[in-house]
Amino acid sequence: MDGLDAGPGFDELFGVPPVVFAEAPGRINLLGEHTDYNGGLALPSPLGLWTRVELRPMPGGQVRAFSTLAGGPVEGALDEPRRRGDWLDYVLGAALVLRKAGHRVGGFAVRIASEVPPGSGLSSSASLLVALLRALRTAYGLPLSDLELAERAQQAEVEFVGAPVGLMDHLVISLGRPGEALLLDLGARRFEAVPLPPGGEMAVLDSGLRHHHADGASYAARRAECERAAALLGVPCLGVLGEGDLPRLSALPPELARRARHVITEDERVLAAVRALRAGHWSALGALLVQGHVSLRDDFAVSLPEIDLLVEMACAEADVLGARLCGGGFGGAVVVATKAGQARQVAEQVVGRYRQSTGRPGAVLWPPGG
Ligand code: GLA
Repeated sequence: MDGLDAGPGFDELFGVPPVVFAEAPGRINLLGEHTDYNGGLALPSPLGLWTRVELRPMPGGQVRAFSTLAGGPVEGALDEPRRRGDWLDYVLGAALVLRKAGHRVGGFAVRIASEVPPGSGLSSSASLLVALLRALRTAYGLPLSDLELAERAQQAEVEFVGAPVGLMDHLVISLGRPGEALLLDLGARRFEAVPLPPGGEMAVLDSGLRHHHADGASYAARRAECERAAALLGVPCLGVLGEGDLPRLSALPPELARRARHVITEDERVLAAVRALRAGHWSALGALLVQGHVSLRDDFAVSLPEIDLLVEMACAEADVLGARLCGGGFGGAVVVATKAGQARQVAEQVVGRYRQSTGRPGAVLWPPGG
């Protein structure tokens, strides 16, 4: 893992000490992929990889930022903001959405340290935005609830960075607690904690293939297809449909029918996964992960051959209960449910085989090595 202490310290960079420290985790998603922007259900959980932010308000409207992953310091102006197409957009975006909401936020210096690998499907961007917004909330004493903070984080990503993402990542990172999944009903705006029971463990394997939703036409294309399917079916969003509506999909062009079928069946899988966790049935959860992957691969078409191979290799292990692509797709990570106490060992074995067979720089992202 990249060290959180890598590179120069805040004082060294800016000549003054920081006044605020804030952090936010990454996340995994157990089930419920590409459902959030459809008003459906998702079941993510915070992951113990962190983005840490040290910040100090500065006179004027300039932002100076350093990142252990991307370097710097780089500068941007809050009064004449311009989208640059790089990581500084997240930093400026966080401050600008607060200003837009009427909060008084001025210039600042910020040092960002992250161990959430970008483009890996673990939501490094939402982690960064929530950490930044937490730091700005403290630095400027803003009356911002954790829910509003999540909404602002999404707004920054959609409006300023230009990635048309849903709200799942920001919600779980802002509201979730370690050791618990959060059942999100994005249509009803209801959130419920679902503790992860003993008897199983999650591992996260990096495929070594990166995605970038801000410039990836593919994520936006899937979102547009879902909106078109909903419009043709005469519903406000696909999340209002249930299994009883599956026969209606035959009225859609075949590709759109497959996209809609993924969303409808994925919502059902989320509910089944909640039942499995509440009953402590990790093997039932594992089977649902596998079904979820098949649906992402065949109906939603967001997987890649290497990711399919990684899932297949994981599932061939005796101690693995199930695996699937995690996050938006087109690269990124695979989540794996294993028997208790086996996650790290199994993950290392699978990644070793994957590297050998594909030549890709696969890696174990979770759990951390001893
Ligand atoms: C990305 C987005 C989320 C969600 C997932 C797919 O992580 O940021 O809003 O749409 O993809 O489930």
